[in-house]
Amino acid sequence: MSLPAVILVGGLGTRLRPLTERTRKDMLPLVDRPQLAYTFDHLRRFGVDRAIISCGYLPTQIQEHFGERYGDLRLEYRIEDEPLGTGGAIRFAAAGVDGPFLALNGDSLRETDLHALVAFHRERGGRATILLTPVEDPSRYGLVRLHGDGRVRSFLEKPRPEEIDTNLINAGLYVLEPDVLDLIPPGRPVSIEREVFPQLVEEGAVFGVALPGYWLDIGTPDAYLQAHRDVLERNFVTDVGDELGSDFTLVADGAQVSPEARLVPPVYVGPDARIAAGARIGSLAVIGRGAVVGEGASVESSVVCAGATVAAGATVTGSIVGERATVGAECEVRGLSVVGPGARVGDRNMLDHGMRVAAEVTIDEGAVSFS
Ligand code: GDD
Ligand code: MG
Repeated sequence: MSLPAVILVGGLGTRLRPLTERTRKDMLPLVDRPQLAYTFDHLRRFGVDRAIISCGYLPTQIQEHFGERYGDLRLEYRIEDEPLGTGGAIRFAAAGVDGPFLALNGDSLRETDLHALVAFHRERGGRATILLTPVEDPSRYGLVRLHGDGRVRSFLEKPRPEEIDTNLINAGLYVLEPDVLDLIPPGRPVSIEREVFPQLVEEGAVFGVALPGYWLDIGTPDAYLQAHRDVLERNFVTDVGDELGSDFTLVADGAQVSPEARLVPPVYVGPDARIAAGARIGSLAVIGRGAVVGEGASVESSVVCAGATVAAGATVTGSIVGERATVGAECEVRGLSVVGPGARVGDRNMLDHGMRVAAEVTIDEGAVSFS
């Protein structure tokens, strides 16, 4: 597919703090690579060879990690002086593109047949086609009501509860004709959802289609863990999932797993990680690059990011341990707790109920308990 893709990466990821205190949301690791790599992989799988990364602020981490190329996907960066909003950013980034193109939000994960989406767009002949996905609660998204032929009847960004009469929302991926850019006033922030789509709806020029596939907005710790589960369980097509193979276990090169440790699939142990005797990893656990899990410790349904330590006898369940963080001996971390990057949780603490420990802070030994 020769369509170029504009990828919007401007958001701040506040709901994922403290994980996003050091790492931008789209660069947070998902199993063994930044979340954004999954978007690149998805595009590549459908033959997209040019991605224009539209940045609301300096994309340093993205550029340092990916540079100008991701396999056969060429990466270009367009950096706004001031964030221009989703519409303004698309106009700015797509300047010079003279045929139809894809535009997508870089903060969600999806797997869908892009060939089918583009075919639908061409067949209906609209100026824009929006990929839709069903969700339980549309209130945080762009609600899309359709006519029978797929023409969008209304587009309602962040609908109020009484306005919700469909579960179909904007999945943040569009096929756009280049003349849509003419509808976006230059030089000021413009929201494609609030200004441009409603205008196209009035013209009857925008279509929507819910194709089979996968979609997840990784905006919260809960969704972040869900994304890991879905990759590990191979609930959608990913390169990592393929590498996990049929035994759903991947121990990367250089990892040292004690023969007396137990790995319960699905499980991923990253490069140079060390798992001590008596430790139990899994199911649904990800141990990042160079992380250490001590003797008798247990990590289940959790993510332990690169360079973190889970000391002897500690238990981490349904929680996230940020990069370089330390969970002391005999700690219990559970209930969707998040230990910020570089934080040090002293021995014998209990974290529960979605507690979030800020980046780089220290919690004294035995300071927190729930009983
Ligand atoms: N370059 C640039 N400049 N990118 C931006 C800017 C900007 O000024 N503002 C937002 N973005 C990027 C964000 O990084 C994100 O990838 C995407 O545009 C959407 O912005 P969000 O702020 O994340 O919007 P949202 O999550 O509330 O809602 C959007 O996504 C939903 C699906 O996840 C909307 O498109 C909804 O309609 C949609 O349902
Ligand atoms: Mg978003």
